[in-house]
Amino acid sequence: ENRSLDHLRAPVICVLGHVDTGKTKLLDKLRCTNVQKSEAGGITQQIGATNVPIDVLRELTKIVRPPKGSQPFKIKIPGLLIMDTPGHEHFRLMRSRGSSLCDLAILVVDIMHGVEPQTVESIKLLQDRGTPFIVALNKIDRLFEWQSNPQKDFWDLLKMQKDHTKVEFEQRLSSAKLQLSEQGLNTKMYYEYSDPKEYSWIVPTSAITGDGIANLIATVVKYNQEIQPEKITFSEELEATVLEVKQTIGHGITIDVILKNGSLKIGDTIVLPGSKGRPIVTQIRALLLPKPNRELRIKTEYAEPKNIKGCQGVKIVAKGLKSAISGSSFLVARCQNEIEILKDLSQEK
Ligand code: GTP
Ligand code: MG
Ligand code: NA
Repeated sequence: ENRSLDHLRAPVICVLGHVDTGKTKLLDKLRCTNVQKSEAGGITQQIGATNVPIDVLRELTKIVRPPKGSQPFKIKIPGLLIMDTPGHEHFRLMRSRGSSLCDLAILVVDIMHGVEPQTVESIKLLQDRGTPFIVALNKIDRLFEWQSNPQKDFWDLLKMQKDHTKVEFEQRLSSAKLQLSEQGLNTKMYYEYSDPKEYSWIVPTSAITGDGIANLIATVVKYNQEIQPEKITFSEELEATVLEVKQTIGHGITIDVILKNGSLKIGDTIVLPGSKGRPIVTQIRALLLPKPNRELRIKTEYAEPKNIKGCQGVKIVAKGLKSAISGSSFLVARCQNEIEILKDLSQEK
């Protein structure tokens, strides 16, 4: 049973959903940041990435109560790599990219609005790619007279609510479930532990008060380590994808990368597709790792390790990245021959 547990990598989690359902705010709550406030019009326009280390996960989920008769919850993964995506209809390509890159998605639905156009679009993207997901039914603090307590397990918190609040919750939950079933989706509350092949699990949350977030993260962790440990077992074979190509002050044009599997080091020759069908061959000059639990797309202080292992979000500094293409994957060449082969390969894409 313990077979490969030492080799579990951080799963890649993608947060998807309709505009303004609270995706960035949920991550802000996790990180104790306020990225959402710094966005123009409060609208996300880029894919983000955050390396959430195990100690943050432990601290956050310590209030989660194990179901009756089962062992306390133990985290076996080294962390989570969480990607934020825009919900605005304009950015379908980024949602598509996120949903294909991740091991598990969090589909955020506003409990007051239910299923909206980009909820439907996101479900289709996820179903097309066979990507499993958990539904975060967000903004529960907006239920009439909701009593907040983020230090409580959600189940206990729900029991404490006034009768009319419980009734409103049940009504909005069943209406959301009905709307989701119209999209071909069977759902159950996370604490029912129903067969994940048949049901998507729902976790109610509030990104403002923090209610339910411990249960959401615990559910995400459990899903990965218990339902799909093979999928998140570290492999030496490089799997790296360009999220964004952009200017980093002091470093010129850099690429934000999700390194899922394998490792990268300074001096590695990387071969990546370039615009106009001209592949880029360049050496890694620096690897910029944002502080743990900080957003890669936001200017921050960086650690500069000599090498890194998947799974992490990292910024790569190298010459000639101007024509790099978001969404493309790249490889490392070990000799001159390999450079030519990889150039051909990246042109075919
Ligand atoms: P896009 O990235 O633009 O698609 O939006 P988003 O899904 O990231 O939503 P965002 O985090 O920008 O939040 C949108 C608005 O909803 C902001 O005004 C938030 O303060 C508010 N909001 C988010 N989560 C909650 C919540 O749980 N409760 C309440 N009451 N408001 C919330
Ligand atoms: Mg956002
Ligand atoms: Na927003």
